[in-house]
Amino acid sequence: MLRLQAPLPERYSAASDDELADMIGAAKAALGRRLFVLGHHYQRDDVMRWADARGDSFGLSRLAAGHEDAEFIVFCGVHFMAESADVLTSDRQSVLLPDLNAGCSMADMADLDQVEEAWDELARIVDVDALVPVTYMNSAAALKAFVGRHGGAVCTSSNARAVLTWALERGERVLFFPDQHLGRNTGYQLGYGADAMRVWDPRLALGGLSELEVKESTLLLWKGHCSVHQRFRPEHVGAFRAEHPDGIVMVHPECAHEVVELGDVVGSTDTIIRAVADAPSGSVIGVATEIHLVKRLDDESPDKTVVCLDPLVCPCSTMSRIDPQHLAWVLEGLVDGQVRNRIVVDPETAEWAEVALERMLALT
Ligand code: 13P
Ligand code: SF4
Repeated sequence: MLRLQAPLPERYSAASDDELADMIGAAKAALGRRLFVLGHHYQRDDVMRWADARGDSFGLSRLAAGHEDAEFIVFCGVHFMAESADVLTSDRQSVLLPDLNAGCSMADMADLDQVEEAWDELARIVDVDALVPVTYMNSAAALKAFVGRHGGAVCTSSNARAVLTWALERGERVLFFPDQHLGRNTGYQLGYGADAMRVWDPRLALGGLSELEVKESTLLLWKGHCSVHQRFRPEHVGAFRAEHPDGIVMVHPECAHEVVELGDVVGSTDTIIRAVADAPSGSVIGVATEIHLVKRLDDESPDKTVVCLDPLVCPCSTMSRIDPQHLAWVLEGLVDGQVRNRIVVDPETAEWAEVALERMLALT
């Protein structure tokens, strides 16, 4: 989805690193407790250094909600995260995203029209009262609201198993979007085979499936993926293990199943961070996730070696859009009384999205 971020004034675009650091430091000091800056683990170091709290996508939204005295939440992450923070915070609080073009290509792979169309198509074949929609946190608020209205729940990479177990106790089958890999990896964990899990391609009639395939499936997996995590291949794990036979492999569940099944640890960014901290001193750890987090783990664990499993891996380009220039621009705006790039979820969408988020919270 295209969200147009206006070019920044020259004061920011032409500023040196030191000048930007001075602007950000001064604005933070002036705003004091009125401001709370959140940094997702995939943020660049020159942004992360200003975060008052770091976390994974869901942990940060929770932190924002718990920080009621902060009038302004500046979310250094991507659009769906800022939306979730807006849904979970009070009306008195404003959530700001420093660059409106910081989206998530995976979240953009499912939109409300497509999901409603899929639901209507499925309703002709199966009983939708026994179909439970589950959306990954990495989705627009409108999709979380759809899920809330239709009796489903949100999940994150750390609680997908609990949420899918709940959903399958509630109904006969699940429509899971937008990440096929998280859905498939969790389905395998729960003991479902490939025949019970079918990919729903939103560009094809009936998702590219026959009526029988739909009826026989327990998990319908939306054809979406993360372009960063999909790059990791089993060959990367093989090459790492050949070089480091005692090494530890840690994999984010947005990776393909062939990679996940080779991992010693599989989990969300927070899980990977904890596992690196718990690994014995001297460990060599190969990680399949975004490069900024991997490099930070290596920098902050001097007694361990942490490497990215794909030597050519690219950063999440949308996360990297948040830079010191945009951060300085939103913070100086706040000092001047201007709330720039506020992310607002409309009240009806927010109400139902919150229902879906609360269902998840009740489970985990
Ligand atoms: P986490 O929920 O693990 O932080 O992951 C968010 C994300 O965007 C992973 O690609
Ligand atoms: Fe989206 Fe992948 Fe970037 Fe995460 S790493 S924000 S899923 S594109």
